[in-house]
Amino acid sequence: MKICIVFDNRSFRPGFVSGWGFSAFLEPPGILFDTGSETKALLDNFSLFNISLEKIHSIFLSHFHWDHTGGLLGMLPLLQTPRVFLHSGFSSGFMVEIKRLRGEPVIIDRPQEIAPDIFSTGPLAGPVPEAGLIIKIKRQLALLTGCAHPGILEMVKETKRIFGQSPFLVLGGFHLLRTSHKKALSLACALREEGVQLAAPSHCTGEKALQAFADIFQDGFLEIGAGKVLKLEELS
Ligand SMILES: [Fe+2]
Ligand SMILES: [Fe+2]
Repeated sequence: MKICIVFDNRSFRPGFVSGWGFSAFLEPPGILFDTGSETKALLDNFSLFNISLEKIHSIFLSHFHWDHTGGLLGMLPLLQTPRVFLHSGFSSGFMVEIKRLRGEPVIIDRPQEIAPDIFSTGPLAGPVPEAGLIIKIKRQLALLTGCAHPGILEMVKETKRIFGQSPFLVLGGFHLLRTSHKKALSLACALREEGVQLAAPSHCTGEKALQAFADIFQDGFLEIGAGKVLKLEELS
C-alpha cells in the first residue's frame, strides 16, 4: 500500500501546492484521509500524482476542522461513489451538505473496520473529538492522525488498547505548535517507549517539535510534505 501526501503545510516535491491543512491518499484501497483546506490545490496535487479521481472509493474525515474538511464539498460532485466516513463530532448541517452533493455520510463512533485491514479508532475525546485511521500491514499497525487534538501519545495508547499493540508508524499532524523543544523531546521519547519506531510528523506539528522528533527518532524520522509517497510494505 502506498500513502501519497496530497495536501500539507509543506511541499515535498517541486510543483506540489502547499497550504494549511492535511490530506493523504491510501492506494489501494482508494481511501482519502482528510481533504486539506481547499479543493483546487487538492485536485492539482492529485493530477501531479497522476491519480485519477475514479480511484477514490471513500473519504475518511478525522475531525471537524476546516483545514481537514475544506476540500471535500467541492470534490464530492466529481466522485463516483462518494462515501464519507466521519463521526458524531461533525455538525448535522455538514452532513446535510454532504447528502445534498450526493455524498453518503457514514457515522462511526467506535473502533470499526472500514475496508480490509483499515480501521477507524472511533473518536477520542479532546478539545476537538478526533478519530485516527489504523492500517494493518504485515502484522504491524500504522496510525494516521489529522491534528492529534486528543494528544498523539493518547492516540497511540488508545491504538494499543484497541488492537493489543502499538503502531510502528505514526503519521500526520501532531498539533504541537505551542510546545517547547524540551517538552516535545520528552513526548518523542514517550512515543518510542510505547513502541513507535517511525515518526512522520507534519501539518500542525510545528518547527520546534519537528526538530525534537528528528533528534529522538534519528533514522526513524520521516520527512513529510505534499508530493511525498510512502510505501508501507518497505517500511514495516
Ligand atoms: Fe489541522
Ligand atoms: Fe485540527
